[in-house]
This record gives sequence, C-alpha cells and structure tokens, in this order.
Amino acid sequence: MKALILSGGKGTRLRPLTYSGAKQLVPVANKPVLWYGIEEMVAAGITDIGIIISPETGAEVQGKTGNGEYFGANITYIVQEQPLGLAHAVQIARPFLENSPFVMYLGDNLIQLGELRYFLQQFSQQQPDALILLRSVANPSAFGVAEVDDTGRVLQLIEKPKVPPSNLALVGVYFFSHLIFDAIANIQPSARGELEITDAIQYLINQEKQVLAYNLKGWWLDTGKKDDLLEANRLILDTYLIASVLGEIDAQSQIIGRVQIGAKSQVINCTIRGPVVIGSNCHLENCFIGPYSSIANNATLIDTDLEHSVILEGAKIAGIHQRIIDSVIGQRAQLTLAPRRPKALRFLIGDDCQIELT
Ligand code: TTP
Repeated sequence: MKALILSGGKGTRLRPLTYSGAKQLVPVANKPVLWYGIEEMVAAGITDIGIIISPETGAEVQGKTGNGEYFGANITYIVQEQPLGLAHAVQIARPFLENSPFVMYLGDNLIQLGELRYFLQQFSQQQPDALILLRSVANPSAFGVAEVDDTGRVLQLIEKPKVPPSNLALVGVYFFSHLIFDAIANIQPSARGELEITDAIQYLINQEKQVLAYNLKGWWLDTGKKDDLLEANRLILDTYLIASVLGEIDAQSQIIGRVQIGAKSQVINCTIRGPVVIGSNCHLENCFIGPYSSIANNATLIDTDLEHSVILEGAKIAGIHQRIIDSVIGQRAQLTLAPRRPKALRFLIGDDCQIELT
C-alpha cells in the first residue's frame, strides 16, 4: 500500500498567504497542515509516500518536509508542472505508484486524527476498486457531491453542482486500485480545464466496478480557506495540545489552562489563557492571549490583545488597542501603531489582503 499526498495546486482561496508560500505549509497549532496527513499515513502503517508538488512552491515543501526520515517514512516528490486537476496528479504519479493500491490524500485537508486507519482496514479487507468517504455538509454546492441509493450505493458523483442531489460531500481522502489509471485515461478535462477525480470515479461506477462509500462521522476540514483554517486550529488545540512551558515567564505573567511555550521565548507581564501554543524565540510583552491562538516561532507581540487567531513565523504586532480576533497574520507581517496616535492610517498592504477596521 502506498500513499499519494497532493501538495501542488494554486491555492487561490487562501491568497495572499499563497502568493509567497504553499498553503499546505500554513501551520495549524504551529505544525504545517501537510504534516498531519503524513503522520496519519505513518500511524496507519503506510510509509511509502509520494508527494505531488508544484514548480512554484515545491522547493519550500520539500525543504521543510525532507525525505521522510523525521516521520519514519520514505517520501518521493513528484513535480506536477501545472495544476491540471486531481486526476492529472494521479496520472503523473503512475511511475511512483506502479500497480500498488494506494490512498490519495489532499494535502490541505484534515480528517479527525485516527480515522484513516479504520478506512484503510476496510479497503484492505474488501479490496474494492475504489473506496470514497462522504460527509454531510451545509453547503454541498462547494464540493464534489454524491447521489446514493437507499442501500448506500453510489449512483453519481457531481463536481460542485448548482442543484446538489444530496448534502453528502466527497471528503479529500480516497482509496484506489490500479484500475483508476484506466478510468483517468478515459475521461476528458472538465469545463474548468481540469481532469476531475470525480469523473474518473464516475467512470468506474459506469463500468460497474466496485466503488464503496463510507460516511465519515468525525470532523473533516479543508484548510484551503481562512475560516476552515481557524476552525482546524481551534479543533487541534482543543483536542491535542499538551501543556509545556520551556520559555521564560516573568512573575507578573499569568498562564491559565493548557498552554505550550517553546524554548527561548520570553513572556513579560502577560495573561495567556489556553488552549494556546507559542513557538520558540518569541517575545510577548503586556499582552492578553486568549483561547485558540497559535503563535509561530520568532513572533513579537507587544501591547496586544489576541484571541482565536493564527500568527505566522516572524510576524510583529504592537500597540493595537483593540482585541484582534479571527485573524490570520502572514509570515514577517507587521501590524503596528505609529508612536503618536495617528490622525491618518498608513498601510503597505499586499494584493488580496483583507483588512477590516471596526
Ligand atoms: P484544491 O484546493 O481543490 O485546489 P487549489 O489548490 O488549486 O486551490 P484553490 O481552489 O484555492 O485555487 O486542491 C486540493 C488539494 O490538491 C490541494 O492540496 C492542492 C492539490 N492539488 C494538486 O496537487 N494538483 C492539482 O492539480 C490540484 C487542482 C490540486
């Protein structure tokens, strides 16, 4: 059994962060989202992992993630020259996958940790041609949607339907036998110019191959959008964060609940109410850091009141006298107040940023 993790794509829905970096490396509870997928594979016993990368962000993904030794895996990187669709990514990975059955995992998706192992067992025991996971969602039109009959058999899969036949979305984790390659060879690019994996699975269904569908009971998030990224951060902090304080905390500071603080971080006159994770080498002074916040390495926060937010590496926030909530602040971004209270606001804001002054 092999795994194929997709870490290419355009990431348009997470701009501006994806102008300068891969969306699969955006941290959730201070760990790149892609790494959760790798760790889930290894925990389920799959160590032969191929990762699809793009020419634009591939070097960064590869540089950060390495050859897999850190995870106890063997990682092969496969460059997809253009993001021509999920099925295209499978097609170009054939030399790596050979005729092995495999699990395909979208690198910006997260499913409840520990769930993968169960579905892998079902796939290995029943040996279908494909096994897909479905999850009921409130807005099916934004996803690939399945129409199933009374017995749970999949009749039809439709990519982002205007009139969805059900509220069952196709989760970003799929299990395939080598027959998927024949299916992909028999489909055409969709109206958006991509080889769709839904069309390839539909081909298998039409050929009366065995396609099993299981309902995913646990949570599933696609971190390719800001609100889902914040929700993934909340869930992971809520469920898995282990308290540990390595940095220096002064006597005026209060640490309440589950809080993790990395080495060489300094906390001066702050209240930190967990669950909160703070990386290493950070400087926090006169701050309130509220629940569900993740602050990456080398960040500086002074006179800041923050809650339910994700701060990326090297960012600086100082002197904003209003609570910052539901925010994602990019690497090395600076959010500061001029020394004297300004009569005007001064900005240097990149393309596609969203700033809301209230
Ligand atoms: P998507 O999120 O569907 O596509 P995208 O990355 O282009 O994002 P956006 O819609 O915001 O522009 O992709 C799901 C995952 O699959 C994601 O991790 C990127 C990856 N992917 C590839 O590796 N190759 C591809 O050709 C495509 C379309 C996606």
